[in-house]
Amino acid sequence: MRTQVVIIGGGPSGLLLGQLLHRAGIDAVVLERKTRDYVLGRIRAGIIEQGLVRLMEEAGVAGRLHAEGFVHDGTRIAFGGEMFHIDLARLAGAPVTVYGQTEITRDLYDARDAAGGQTIFEAQDVALHGLEGDHPFVTLTAGGQSLRIACDFVAGCDGFHGISRQAIPLSARQEYEKTYPFGWLGILSRTPPVADELIYANSDRGFALCSMRNENLSRYYIQCALSDSPSDWTDDAFWQELRRRLPPEVADGLVTGPSIDKSIAPLRSFVTEPMRWGRLFLCGDAAHIVPPTGAKGLNTAASDVHYLHQGLRQFYEEADPEGIDRYSERALLRVWKAERFSWWFSSLLHVYPHMSGFDRRMQQAEIAFLRDNESQQRAFAENYVGLPY
Ligand code: FAD
Ligand code: DHB
Repeated sequence: MRTQVVIIGGGPSGLLLGQLLHRAGIDAVVLERKTRDYVLGRIRAGIIEQGLVRLMEEAGVAGRLHAEGFVHDGTRIAFGGEMFHIDLARLAGAPVTVYGQTEITRDLYDARDAAGGQTIFEAQDVALHGLEGDHPFVTLTAGGQSLRIACDFVAGCDGFHGISRQAIPLSARQEYEKTYPFGWLGILSRTPPVADELIYANSDRGFALCSMRNENLSRYYIQCALSDSPSDWTDDAFWQELRRRLPPEVADGLVTGPSIDKSIAPLRSFVTEPMRWGRLFLCGDAAHIVPPTGAKGLNTAASDVHYLHQGLRQFYEEADPEGIDRYSERALLRVWKAERFSWWFSSLLHVYPHMSGFDRRMQQAEIAFLRDNESQQRAFAENYVGLPY
């Protein structure tokens, strides 16, 4: 078998890249280790930057996003029993959109089906070969058969635990990592959201986030111990703890109900450099991870896809390798800024073990400064709605 680009991973990065390449007449095969239902069953990101909205439009898959997504012009931050609003639209000139990663992935799979794009599910033993030469190929087994796919390029969109990053020799990559001493316990419930905007809360008991997917589907998170498991938390215990971390007027309005999903995610900052090795390009979580505070994970994956698809188009349409040669540099410049924002916003809102009284006062003073200083709010808003690309 032969194609122009083999895309490893059928998550949002791989699917979006596949669809943008298809629109540009560039042929790609997507290899996904899991089944489609498994990929669509994962509850992950919920807040979409304008850049990703534009990419979905460019890929011809933004119809449902525009019809069903909620446009939010602002967000709220709570601390010490009070709450303030940051006007994203006024300060940064753009809103964010509430539309789940699950829905984005579904829209992209539907579009890929309609376009007749080839996706191989349950691809096992995927291995990359010849990346340093001009004739790379990928081997795998699927449905009990061994396959060999020759290609021009490989896009490693296979997430943090994928094989693509590992295909770059250790001597040729530098990894930067920070782990955090807590996780996020998240639940999804068929209840109306507690507010019409997201609420990020810093409390003495730890961080909490009130988010949503639609008018009758809420997503809530609380900071938890890394040693906790979802089964340690009954729904009642979760709701009680969430209430205690919110300002009283918000807690009083909280509508609770049975959870339909409950999971714990560890927090991590991670970047590997470079994002290109010969004919392999890393995209999204395969190359970098951010702590979820501020919702930059999926959005940063999208900016990688933008730079890579532009570079591949330039290569195929103009025989100009400049875009792919500068892919890693361009993507990383934006990645590091998203890393900084997510790290900063995490440090602002969580209670760290062994925090001194002084550390806690510094955190509170920084939140008060954000509340009272418009320049600080503007810098926050520009990062939150997404830096340009
Ligand atoms: P992924 O979504 O990880 O997709 C990679 C795909 O590659 C997967 O489908 C995987 O099955 C496949 N794959 C892996 N190995 C192979 C292989 N060897 N061969 C073939 N296929 C392979 N971000 C936010 O902004 N907000 C959030 O609330 C949020 N919550 C999250 C919760 C969790 C538990 C996790 C893990 C992430 C969360 N993120 C969140 C981050 C966001 O979901 C990711 O940034 C986003 O999924 C990145 O997309 P991706 O396509 O690069 O990687
Ligand atoms: C969601 C997750 C985030 O990390 C965030 O900052 C905002 C919203 C969510 O899942 O809805």
